[in-house]
Amino acid sequence: MAVVLNPELRRALAERIRFYHDLGIYDFYQRPVAHAQANAAEASQPEIREEMSPRKSAVVSVIAEENVSRAESGVKDPVAALQLIRQDIGDCTRCKLHKLGRKQIVFGVGNSHAELMFVGEGPGADEDIQGEPFVGRAGQLLNNMIKAMGIRREDVYIANVVKCRPPGNRTPERDECETCSPFLMRQIAAIKPKAIVALGAVAARNMLAINAPMSELRGRWYDFKPAGVSDPSWQGARLAVTYHPAFLLRDPRQKGEAWKDLQMVMKYLGLESPGKPE
Ligand code: URA
Repeated sequence: MAVVLNPELRRALAERIRFYHDLGIYDFYQRPVAHAQANAAEASQPEIREEMSPRKSAVVSVIAEENVSRAESGVKDPVAALQLIRQDIGDCTRCKLHKLGRKQIVFGVGNSHAELMFVGEGPGADEDIQGEPFVGRAGQLLNNMIKAMGIRREDVYIANVVKCRPPGNRTPERDECETCSPFLMRQIAAIKPKAIVALGAVAARNMLAINAPMSELRGRWYDFKPAGVSDPSWQGARLAVTYHPAFLLRDPRQKGEAWKDLQMVMKYLGLESPGKPE
């Protein structure tokens, strides 16, 4: 049975796993615990569910726990569920971003029944003005990437970890991500995509609670499911990590690598490619 970890514990475990990775250790074995004899501390240790396969081929199960009440629980229609989540966000003042110059909340856009979701970091200046994720230069590149996968922007759903623009496009801070990411989890639970692409390290690290470099985060699948979703028709999504389009604009030489990530996603979704993105 998969164990739901609280965010602090997940983070601490992720740090520890990263430490082992730095030492070149990738395989973890679970010591059987004799429950009758185990002391309380040991009995409360969570399972680490990393498969014992070579680096990069392992599928890591992530159950993202968020302690939130869900106005939309029991609502099957994703359109209605997303509306309820948006209503719940309201004119949000839950974190400091609301008083740091944001013009509006950028909730998310796209097909509520999408098989594929893209998750970015947070709105930039253009998104803040238009109220839609990825509409600036990075958005143009994301559109090209989506097109190259043989689908349209309208076919996918696009959201961010934080819904308000961080001042000066700085990286969203931990407390901001922690306050806002429950809404992202609820969006994912409403849409129930088959696959999610985390765009960049900030999105990936926040969703997976793994503090690893992109070189380790990319090139593998993660089984991803927000906690508390009990729909027998949806076992969760597969999550892949690729470079953020803004990074690709700065370093176009990495586009080929990003294309490999997208091809992995296309293969899983059975998509035919019309060609490599520009
Ligand atoms: N970068 C992001 O991470 N998200 C956006 O919506 C735009 C740029």
